[in-house]
Amino acid sequence: MIDLPNPRTIHDIETPAVLIDIDRATANIARAQANADKHRLKLRPHIKTHKLPYFARQQVDAGAVGITCQKIGEVEVMAEAGLADIFLPYNILGRVKLERLHALHGKITLSVTTDSAETLAGLAATFTDAGHRLKVLVECDTGMGRCGVQTAAEALELAKGIDRAAGLSFGGLMTYPAAGRAAEADTWLFEARDMLKDAGLDCQTVSSGGTPDIWRSGDTKVVTEYRPGTYIYLDRYQVAKGVGGIDDCALTVLSTVVSHPTPTRAILDAGSKAMSSDTLGLPDFGELVSIPGALVTGLSEEHGTVTLSGDAKLSIGQRVRVLPDHVCVVTNLFDTVHLISGETVVDILPVAARGRLT
Ligand SMILES: Cc1ncc(COP(=O)(O)O)c(C=O)c1O
Repeated sequence: MIDLPNPRTIHDIETPAVLIDIDRATANIARAQANADKHRLKLRPHIKTHKLPYFARQQVDAGAVGITCQKIGEVEVMAEAGLADIFLPYNILGRVKLERLHALHGKITLSVTTDSAETLAGLAATFTDAGHRLKVLVECDTGMGRCGVQTAAEALELAKGIDRAAGLSFGGLMTYPAAGRAAEADTWLFEARDMLKDAGLDCQTVSSGGTPDIWRSGDTKVVTEYRPGTYIYLDRYQVAKGVGGIDDCALTVLSTVVSHPTPTRAILDAGSKAMSSDTLGLPDFGELVSIPGALVTGLSEEHGTVTLSGDAKLSIGQRVRVLPDHVCVVTNLFDTVHLISGETVVDILPVAARGRLT
């Protein structure tokens, strides 16, 4: 392979490539932290959006109490990079994963969740040291329809089980609410928290999350900690939800027009292996920055189809920046990201926790 010189500006970068505007990302971190501080809400950002120790450290330096990871592999990468307080809201099952979790508990401040007697049994059998207990929160399904106990009574049963286990300590409740339904989640959490309190089990933490409701997160009277992920980069889905504007979005996919078969159809060198085909329900896959009327309407693996309308024009060889619908999946598709300020390339970082799915 030819050794290429490091790009100095975005014009020198080989396409397709991921660009992260660090000024926008930094502003997004600061805005969310200021909002959390104003409402006395602890912030524990979810790093699945960036998978970079660089930004995890920046989030903690800005005032976050720690970070959230989705998989043990991500926790391992972040712990190795010096992140010291990590929440893993995931059901951990199986001997090997429990051993990895045990090793991490010896190194960092770790907390996890459970929503079943099966997960709890594995945790209780692995963590037996009453002098160094693992904090476990009960995951509650407050309307999202994914993981979580279904009723406050079930939450109480599980909390009692955690409390009885010698090497575990009950940490509180966790939910990932459906977008736009935080108030419904609050009602659920209130009932559960009070039922637990009556049984002598205090919820030290009530953890919720989600970028779509981030600006309403201060309305809650029950949640103590918030886990936003996408807020750092934002994307078309979050813009559609009103979380920010196009000019707040920090991640774009730099791409080249490689074909222009008809006046209204242009083809990019970025397909589903670069942008992912996850639309989160939007009718198309992305839009071209600063070219109104240029939408990514189709993706095959290595080709992106742009449909042009109105005055939108492209030419073969033109380099464009695509704003994807859902940035978190894009992060997991590239080995590296280019950090930029304006058009200057500030650094190229390996996506350290990329592919750490176990
Ligand atoms: C458990 C959990 N918490 C927090 C988040 C962050 O959500 P968002 O990216 O909308 O901020 C997610 C997203 O997938 C999640 O699964």
